[in-house]
Amino acid sequence: MILRRLGAALLVPLGLALAQAPTDGLASQLKDGQTLYFLSCAMCHGDHLEGVSAPALSGPDFKLHYAGLHLLGLSDFIQTEMPLDRPASLSDAEVLAVMAYVLHQNGAKLPSDGLNAAQLDTVIHFEAQP
Ligand code: HEC
Repeated sequence: MILRRLGAALLVPLGLALAQAPTDGLASQLKDGQTLYFLSCAMCHGDHLEGVSAPALSGPDFKLHYAGLHLLGLSDFIQTEMPLDRPASLSDAEVLAVMAYVLHQNGAKLPSDGLNAAQLDTVIHFEAQP
C-alpha cells in the first residue's frame, strides 16, 4: 500500500514532464519505459544510462555489444536477470517498454507503433551518430 502510493507519487512528475510528447504508440511506450527505468533501473545504471554501480546502458561499448543481435537476447536478459535486486519481476509489457526506452536513448530506430512481442526476432540497429 505504502509502496503503491510512493510509486504513484513518483509517476506523476514524469508523466507531466512528458505531457507534450507525441501520442502515437511508440511515444506512449517510451513514456512507460522511461518511468519504469527511473523506478527500477536508474539507481544502478544511472539517470542518463551512464552506469553507476552497473554497466552503462549507452555509449559505444553498449552499442557494440548489442548491435546486430536479436531483440530477444536483450529482452530475455532483462526479463530473467534485471532488475538485479528483484529479477524476473517485470511483466512482458514492462520489459518491452524499458527496452524500447534504452534502445531509443541510444538512437535505435523503433517502429512508430512501438515494440511488441512479435518483433523480438528483429536485429538491433543503431543509427549512425550525428
Ligand atoms: C541493483 C542494481 C541494478 C538494477 C536495479 C538494475 N541493474 Fe541491470 N545490471 C546490474 C549489474 C551489476 C549488471 C552487470 C552484471 C550482469 O551483467 O549481470 C547489470 C547488467 C545489465 C545489462 C547488461 C549490460 C551489458 O553491458 O551487457 C542490461 C541490459 C541491464 N542490466 C538492464 C537493466 C534494466 C533494464 C534494469 C531495470 C529494469 C536494470 N538493469 C536494473 C545492476 C542492476
